[in-house]
Amino acid sequence: MNAKQLATIRDEFPVLQRTVHDQPLIYLDNAATSQKPKAMIEGMLDYYTYHNANSHRGVHQLALESTEAFEAVRGQIADWLQVQTNEIIFNSGTTEGINAIAFGLGLSVLEPGDKIFLTQLEHHANLVPWQEVAKLTGAEIVFMPVDPQTYVIDLQGVAKILDQSVKIVATHHVSNVIGVQQPINELSKIIREYTNAHIIIDGAQSVSHLKLNLKNLDIDAYCFSAHKMYGPTGLGIMYINERIHQDMAPFKYGGEMINQVDDFSSNYKVSPWKYEGGTQPIAEVVSFGKTLDYLSQLPMDELWEHEQALTDRLIHQLSAMDGVSIYQDISQETHGIVSYNIEAIHPHDAATAYDLEGIAIRAGHHCAQPLMRILNVPATLRASISFYNTVEEIDYFVQVTKRIKEFFEHGFRK
Ligand SMILES: Cc1ncc(COP(=O)(O)O)c(C=O)c1O
Repeated sequence: MNAKQLATIRDEFPVLQRTVHDQPLIYLDNAATSQKPKAMIEGMLDYYTYHNANSHRGVHQLALESTEAFEAVRGQIADWLQVQTNEIIFNSGTTEGINAIAFGLGLSVLEPGDKIFLTQLEHHANLVPWQEVAKLTGAEIVFMPVDPQTYVIDLQGVAKILDQSVKIVATHHVSNVIGVQQPINELSKIIREYTNAHIIIDGAQSVSHLKLNLKNLDIDAYCFSAHKMYGPTGLGIMYINERIHQDMAPFKYGGEMINQVDDFSSNYKVSPWKYEGGTQPIAEVVSFGKTLDYLSQLPMDELWEHEQALTDRLIHQLSAMDGVSIYQDISQETHGIVSYNIEAIHPHDAATAYDLEGIAIRAGHHCAQPLMRILNVPATLRASISFYNTVEEIDYFVQVTKRIKEFFEHGFRK
């Protein structure tokens, strides 16, 4: 990726042109949410300006246009993930997707004594719903072992503790804190060999960094949020494998997800619509389609390589600095995520100091408190990289890190 090509891409993301505290913005909080291309922003404006109507309801022209545009994006997403259109369901985000599966599937398949396999690396969105479902069903949460060095799921360790009582296996694909990628393919093979468990993947941090073919992964469900993939907030996507549509009940009941409503009972449409009660985030879906159009014409493989090169450069430079602790296995690809701390500086103070230099990064527990306990820290700094970041930004970021360290050690020097 040469500088000219990258500049052309950056021009498509208007917010990257702004300043923060009189400094050019350096946006390194992409794991929290990504920035939006003009194509998406203009797509949303166009939808509200010319086509706005509720989908799947009216017979008038606007309603038909809205429905057609909405359903076309379902097809686009199915193609992107290489699955069937009826397996793509819209909701408000990864959090809602995992809740829909925990309550819609978990309550149907779990019985007292059954096991839910998770890891201690999960984002709270893939832990807390299972805790609640475990309480309601009498099922038990068991944490799969991970390699203490790499944090990759220990497949042999998992095989040793698998038995027929395991009904759900739910894990992240890429960790939001340490960027580790889990071997989902190999994991699903082991699970299928020993059990009939349903395999649920939290893909919030993977979709924007990996080429996915969900059919090849042989999983039952995959959830992600459009806003982390250059799309709008308020839109989540859930892949539900057709083979579990019978087992998984709707999570939201109400308008447009039904066939027939009698006074005391109702029956429901088939997937995807049975999982989409109420008015849908139509403008978000339509504008996410514009994001996908835009991404489809970019050389994504090259851009992912560029992201990884920037990540390696950052890790390399930070790990060469005294007093900086990095919390991930630096020999692995970490998909744009770098978690670290600067000795004796609270991460919130450091993040504020970065902000004064126009740099946006995240400080906190990243909604992964069990993992923070394993790392033995209350919080970390997290820089997260996207393909629109540049080598110059990474090098400037490292210089600022040195300055922050010096400032907190010795005070301001002229
Ligand atoms: C791994 C992971 N899972 C789930 C979520 C929740 O996503 P959302 O807040 O968009 O529902 C996040 C958000 O940061 C995440 O990183």
